[in-house]
Amino acid sequence: MTRKLEAWFARHQRPLPWRTAYDPYQVWVSEVMLQQTRMEVVLPYFQRFLSRFPTLSSLAAATEDEVTAAWSGLGYYRRARMLRDGAAAVRDRFAGTVPSTVEELLTIPGIGRYTAGAIASVAFNAHAPIVDGNVTRVTARLFGSDGDAWPRAQALVDACQSPRTLNQSLMELGALICTPRNPSCLLCPVRTHCVALLEGTVDTLPAPKPKQSPRELTIPLYLIRDRRGRVLMRRESGPLMNGMYHLPHGNAALFSEHTLDATPDELLGSFRHTVTTRKIEFQLFTAQVGRIRDSPGDYEWIDPDAMHEVPHPSYVRKALRLARLSR
Ligand code: ADE
Repeated sequence: MTRKLEAWFARHQRPLPWRTAYDPYQVWVSEVMLQQTRMEVVLPYFQRFLSRFPTLSSLAAATEDEVTAAWSGLGYYRRARMLRDGAAAVRDRFAGTVPSTVEELLTIPGIGRYTAGAIASVAFNAHAPIVDGNVTRVTARLFGSDGDAWPRAQALVDACQSPRTLNQSLMELGALICTPRNPSCLLCPVRTHCVALLEGTVDTLPAPKPKQSPRELTIPLYLIRDRRGRVLMRRESGPLMNGMYHLPHGNAALFSEHTLDATPDELLGSFRHTVTTRKIEFQLFTAQVGRIRDSPGDYEWIDPDAMHEVPHPSYVRKALRLARLSR
């Protein structure tokens, strides 16, 4: 079965930038980006990030702000900071060479079981298993039951010729053929081995996880401009969105406890924004500054044309577009 998977991958894989040289640093960056973001979205960001930080040492030497700015738009910014910290650890503890074993990789900040397995197998062709959503689904169907995917992934990688090829074949098969809905079983290279196909349980495996329904909330955002047209922003220093520039907002629950008192004038419009477990309706108001309760030094006037120079979350971009301050 592993032969068939490997042969299928060799023929049908999508050409991806990190699949040419299999440079460990590039594989690492791609795997971290792909953890919470879809492939189509990742591709342009990967190219941009790599031209900004072409080598591990350039990333290790970067400041947190430079890294979050290059990550702007990908979300889950903790990943970017951990990637930088991880690169610094490789520089300091492994003389700048990404280690090749799962054990060593696991000692690097930000690298967990999945990323360690991915780097060891995809970059170094080590017989290490990896499990992500695709592998979980593909193995559940192949073996005909839910259950821990790790021993199954281990068994497959133990039996294969090229771990790099086998592991990627499972992920690629999950992305292209063995999709969550309407899988293309007729095109599957291992359909004759698939217990779920034999037993008619493809559509029920894996059983869906009970999902938390997103909490809905409304947050007023304040667009406060000075005479030169600059926009008042707050540089967030809390643990979640460290270093990101936010628009002042009237809700403390989501970002930090600090905000400023502002008097809303006119409602410019509203837009929806979804983050992991929250559905937010942002209402954008023009406003006058009131009392600034936290350190005034946290606030800066930013020219809308220079917004690309400061790291900011994507709702800020949506708000500026709504206010016709950017495209
Ligand atoms: N998803 C995450 N990493 C991947 C890879 N190397 N190939 C296919 N899909 C992936």
